[in-house]
Amino acid sequence: MSLAASIEIRRSTFADVPAARRLGAEAFGVSTRPSPDPDPGSWPSPNVRPWVATDHDEVVAGLGVRSFTSWFHGARLPTAGFAGVTVAAEHRGSGLLRPLMAAALAEARDLGDVVSTLYPSSAGIYRGVGYEVVGAFEDVRIPVAALAAVPRPAGGVRARRATAADVPAVRRVYEQWASAQNGPLSRGEAPFIMEADEMVGPDADYTGVSLAVSGAGADEEVLGFASWSRGPGYDRTNTIEVDDLVALTPDAARALWRVLASFASVAGWVQVCTSGGWSGVDVSRLVLPDHAATSVPRPYMLRLLDVPGALGSSRVAPVTARVRFAVVDPRTPDLEGAWTLEASVGAVRVSPDDAATPGDRLTFTSAGLALTWAGAQSTANARLAGAVSGPAEHDAVWDSLWGGRQVHVRDYF
Ligand SMILES: CC(C)(COP(=O)(O)OP(=O)(O)OC[C@H]1O[C@@H](n2cnc3c(N)ncnc32)[C@H](O)[C@@H]1OP(=O)(O)O)[C@@H](O)C(=O)NCCC(=O)NCCS
Repeated sequence: MSLAASIEIRRSTFADVPAARRLGAEAFGVSTRPSPDPDPGSWPSPNVRPWVATDHDEVVAGLGVRSFTSWFHGARLPTAGFAGVTVAAEHRGSGLLRPLMAAALAEARDLGDVVSTLYPSSAGIYRGVGYEVVGAFEDVRIPVAALAAVPRPAGGVRARRATAADVPAVRRVYEQWASAQNGPLSRGEAPFIMEADEMVGPDADYTGVSLAVSGAGADEEVLGFASWSRGPGYDRTNTIEVDDLVALTPDAARALWRVLASFASVAGWVQVCTSGGWSGVDVSRLVLPDHAATSVPRPYMLRLLDVPGALGSSRVAPVTARVRFAVVDPRTPDLEGAWTLEASVGAVRVSPDDAATPGDRLTFTSAGLALTWAGAQSTANARLAGAVSGPAEHDAVWDSLWGGRQVHVRDYF
């Protein structure tokens, strides 16, 4: 579909802000806590790149690209997180989305982002531009009664309330957990940094941050944390909302779940922001004796921007492997190519292969590459979805390189 000559796609200016905000409110509803009008000095927000499409100077589409790093295969990868994607109601279906996304993706690539992620309102919107669902951020609701039988932690692990002095230790716990997964934001960039005044104190986002600790005095070690909000009321309809529950040991998980269980007389529910599905993929749930819960998933989609950059940053098992692979996907010409991957002593090198011929190697669509590299699907399953084709002799090697980490994400944007 070719765009009308009157359409311009460009980075937003401050003058676009009222129209872009109106579009956002129309698409996503009016916030009960609207953010104040920005002033030119503080716009755009740190690490946000806003884009618009205009028709005869009227703003008819917009989006924001959040710049952050996220963990994949042991590396902190520069990531372009798309948010607030909106086309004005009267212009939907006219082909604005693809060129708007393409312009913002090209800029992200130029700036060094190697992957892009987003939370779709419908997955089908973004498949055509190369994204695939690799995981989900979830709100899991658990009846407090189901936590009653969580055993006491052993090994001297106990819970205590965090103070501002504990925030560096909380960040270390998060980093130790996040760096072992695929997907979590590093929380190293605004607005995702766990700032002390947002965690604890009079202006904090939470009623409390509880820690699981072992040892005492100078030997005390923080092994987990839960940030929770109390909400009003004290009957069984009430919910304790938990933004993070991260535990590095099973006893730390038990200590934190027991803090939440202690609200049984004044709340009926605990709602935890988590990821990975209610099958135990969030390991902190493995210590729960009861699986009663309901879950509302928010799917998370991934697209690669730089194939050698993403794969080549990965730290993998110390196997020696050589796999020839290609990406063939007319929907994402920027990702197409043929390469040879060489893995040795835990590092990966990906070099272009000019001698490739069609069908001579393991071949991915952009979705197939996202699914298998993130470890969200095996190569065999991606073949069932039409996302992988070509010779299967290296499927097992591909899976062993990328299959060892689960996909998690704990920040919504
Ligand atoms: C989503 C939105 C931005 C798409 O813009 P649009 O102009 O309607 O998009 P297009 O008609 O060009 O369609 C683009 C692609 O999305 C798909 N799509 C559009 N709406 C969809 C829906 N509701 N569910 C699934 N797929 C959808 C189209 O089939 C098309 O796929 P293709 O590229 O494979 O052909 C627009 O409908 C909108 O603003 N909706 C309300 C806000 C919203 O949901 N934003 C997304 C937030 S993540």
